[in-house]
Amino acid sequence: MSAALETRGLTRRFGAFVAVDAVSLRVEPGARHALIGPNGAGKTTFVNLLSGALAASAGQVSLLGRDVSAAPQHLRVRLGLARTFQVNQLFAELTPMQATTMALAERAGLGAIWWRPLFGMAGLRAEAQQLLDTVRLPDAARHQRTASLPYGRQRLLEIALALAMRPRVLLLDEPAAGVPPADSREVLAAVAALPRDVAVLLIEHDMDLVFRFAERITVLAFGAVLADGAPSEIARSPAVREAYLGSTEVAHG
Ligand SMILES: Nc1ncnc2c1ncn2[C@@H]1O[C@H](COP(=O)(O)OP(=O)(O)O)[C@@H](O)[C@H]1O
Ligand SMILES: [Mg+2]
Repeated sequence: MSAALETRGLTRRFGAFVAVDAVSLRVEPGARHALIGPNGAGKTTFVNLLSGALAASAGQVSLLGRDVSAAPQHLRVRLGLARTFQVNQLFAELTPMQATTMALAERAGLGAIWWRPLFGMAGLRAEAQQLLDTVRLPDAARHQRTASLPYGRQRLLEIALALAMRPRVLLLDEPAAGVPPADSREVLAAVAALPRDVAVLLIEHDMDLVFRFAERITVLAFGAVLADGAPSEIARSPAVREAYLGSTEVAHG
């Protein structure tokens, strides 16, 4: 079976500096895969190469068996690769229900939803409710102005908006960054509970959350893959401990 997402020799240089160094990585369909590594290891750059936000210096990216190395971002999204974006100014003034309904209308190519007959709108609204159920956004939060919601709830909405694109692979770069610890569990629990038709590649620095979530872990250091395997193997790896030298972060298993 094709990987959901696969890279071969993916590389990105900034001048003479190699931020991502010949990374070959395979994300299986439905995977719960974590990408970890010290600050500056190249994780965010790697995700930007996957989404097409940054051009690769060398190497390939394939999505569901199809080479998308040369495809622009919007085409990668169309083909099933989604990432989250911070809710922008426009969405911040809408309620989560309105924002999600708009995203679904956009995906369906309906354009401005204000022109839709009531019947079509009802279908989109039901779908929006389902997506907000999927990310476990509490009912009470769905009809409030998004900007007034706690950050954890805004993150849940961002994931719902990414899911509105009907992705097969979801890239999450520290989805709980800036969220108070009590709420970050809620965000990660929602991510872990996403339907299995979506493979998730998660970057997260909190090792408790990583080991709770991941079925496979890839460790990047200095832009290159240092280790790749089951969480128990990663926890035992001397090379990984070395990369986190001076910290007790990888202290599981
Ligand atoms: N646009 C850029 N220009 C120059 N260097 C960059 C750029 N983006 C990232 N880097 C460098 O690449 C390295 C990896 O950064 P990043 O991918 O953000 O790491 P991580 O997400 O793992 O913390 C860092 O040393 C960073 O300074
Ligand atoms: Mg980063």
